[in-house]
Amino acid sequence: MRHILSAKQFTRADLEHIISESRAMDQILAAGHSSIMEGKILATLFYEPSTRTRLSFECAMHRLGGRIISETDVTFSSQSKGEILCDTIRIVSGYSDVIALRSKNVWDAEMASQCSRVPIINAWDGPGEHPTQALLDLYTITKHFPDILTDKPLRVTFVWDLRYGRTVHSLTLLLRNFPQVQITFVAPENLNIPTEYTYENDTLRNTLSPELVAESDVIYMTRVQKERFPDLVSYNAVKNLFILDAKAVRWMRQDAILMHPLPRVNELPSEVDSLPQAAYFEQAKNGVPVRMALIKYCLEK
Ligand code: CP
Repeated sequence: MRHILSAKQFTRADLEHIISESRAMDQILAAGHSSIMEGKILATLFYEPSTRTRLSFECAMHRLGGRIISETDVTFSSQSKGEILCDTIRIVSGYSDVIALRSKNVWDAEMASQCSRVPIINAWDGPGEHPTQALLDLYTITKHFPDILTDKPLRVTFVWDLRYGRTVHSLTLLLRNFPQVQITFVAPENLNIPTEYTYENDTLRNTLSPELVAESDVIYMTRVQKERFPDLVSYNAVKNLFILDAKAVRWMRQDAILMHPLPRVNELPSEVDSLPQAAYFEQAKNGVPVRMALIKYCLEK
């Protein structure tokens, strides 16, 4: 079975295959839809809030001609009566062909894969990883900078909550397959990237200078995740540290891109949306072709 559990599992060849399949899915979307998943069922089990990930998975399965079953609130799940996740997965894997799981705890997806009779897709596991987001992020980067696939240099700058930002963790792991990508991490001390995700050639900064903004090909902004902080005092101390307003974004080159996994709070004011560098709505839209490719990847023989 082909589970998708971590960005660590993908080789460069896997990534090139998924990017190529995502391009093919984009063509299917442009032409209408496909029936390659006719008769197949995707179960979406989302035990933490989501808009983009769940709906783009469900949209992807619909566009492929398959069907959906869904559980989107743990309070309406039998887990609220004490059922363990592994039992839920055993049951749902009898009802479906592939399961996308979003849960609170690191290793939940890994554990689910051991209880399941069908492929598990990690749709984030608490503060752990978000590998399908990283794949759509990489796809977005390749659309703007296709030379990354022929190992041309690229400068990627990750900004702000790099401690809890699982999308950053997963995308960093994927980018290690492209040795010419130069990574800079910008975060306050208490939200710095965990050392397990850093390499010795990376640059770590506490401030985002105009020079760094101007020389980055990709700026990947993140939200400070209020829900991960132990108390409001420590959240309030950092909540407005980095705001990329239109003035700051205009320091970027015209062909550079500004990404964000969304949702945003106040780190990207809406005045930025109309600037040519703003790529985050396109990035979210790329979730559909990429997740179509990933459903196929999990289910193809
Ligand atoms: N980027 C992302 O995972 O968004 P949702 O939480 O809305 O799924």
